[in-house]
Amino acid sequence: VEANAAWAEEVRRLAKQRDAVLLAHNYQLPEIQDIADHTGDSLALSRIAASSDASTIIFCGVHFMAETAKILSPEKTVLIPDARAGCSLADSITGAELRAWKAEHPGAVVVSYVNTTAEVKAETDICCTSSNAVDVVASIPADREVLFLPDQFLGAHVKRVTGRENMHVWAGECHVHAGINGAELAERAAAAPDADLFIHPECGCATSALYLAGEGAVAPERVKILSTGDMVHEARDTKAKTVLVATEIGMIHQLRKAAPGIDFRAVNDRASCRYMKMITPAALLRCVRDGLDEVHVDVETAARARASVQRMIEIGQ
Ligand code: 13P
Ligand code: SF4
Repeated sequence: VEANAAWAEEVRRLAKQRDAVLLAHNYQLPEIQDIADHTGDSLALSRIAASSDASTIIFCGVHFMAETAKILSPEKTVLIPDARAGCSLADSITGAELRAWKAEHPGAVVVSYVNTTAEVKAETDICCTSSNAVDVVASIPADREVLFLPDQFLGAHVKRVTGRENMHVWAGECHVHAGINGAELAERAAAAPDADLFIHPECGCATSALYLAGEGAVAPERVKILSTGDMVHEARDTKAKTVLVATEIGMIHQLRKAAPGIDFRAVNDRASCRYMKMITPAALLRCVRDGLDEVHVDVETAARARASVQRMIEIGQ
């Protein structure tokens, strides 16, 4: 406990010295979430990064998140405690692959999930996150074709909710969320018949949850497909005593803080993102002390990516 208190004090002192704001994604380790000035989902953190008046942003999350902050605020110094913290979903499409896909669908509107590289964002019309993907697609005139990428499960969810036929979805996936499967969910739901189901739309089991509801195995109003930030809001509102959570396990810490009286259970307790967990307490200390790793985005790429990211943070405000 003492070592932890000394670490926390040192991190705060050095962050202040650097005029840095500390942001942490909901999947970060508990000690990183607890020391951050703000925790949240990708959209909330992007908005905070864009509006913060600190001259340095320390992004405790994965690389595309820090890159997004840099795209929005090129004049700020953006640091990530470990630049190797990548994302298997962002890796599932390259700029060249997107250019080839666009060439097959001239005139289509390109909607990219924020989990993409700056190069892919530079080829994109509008970015979205899991909390505003439906609003973003709904904002596009019905007669325009849509290319949605890279996540197939989020894409299927948006298609289901908007009823949009002229939307093509890239076949990418996040290895952590794709691994949370329907059989596991059905088993957990059967053992807790009164539980709410909080399901991230990147999960392979999102379709199974709706299937379970359709079969009468789960009350339909208990199936809630939510971004990580919306899970926190829903935790404060729900009357359920037990909640099954289908997303990366870091989320449970933030949920327990938001609603200590609820029994939150991970649908799959092995669903841990090794990239998110690269941001260790030691890495954060090194970051505030040495100013490493700094995130750079090529100026021209950032300029091309900026409009799509700006539309993302404006839609669904
Ligand atoms: P959100 O926090 O926007 O729901 O994103 C989840 C995610 O997988 C980020 O990597
Ligand atoms: Fe990427 Fe999946 Fe990790 Fe999120 S949980 S950062 S989508 S690999």
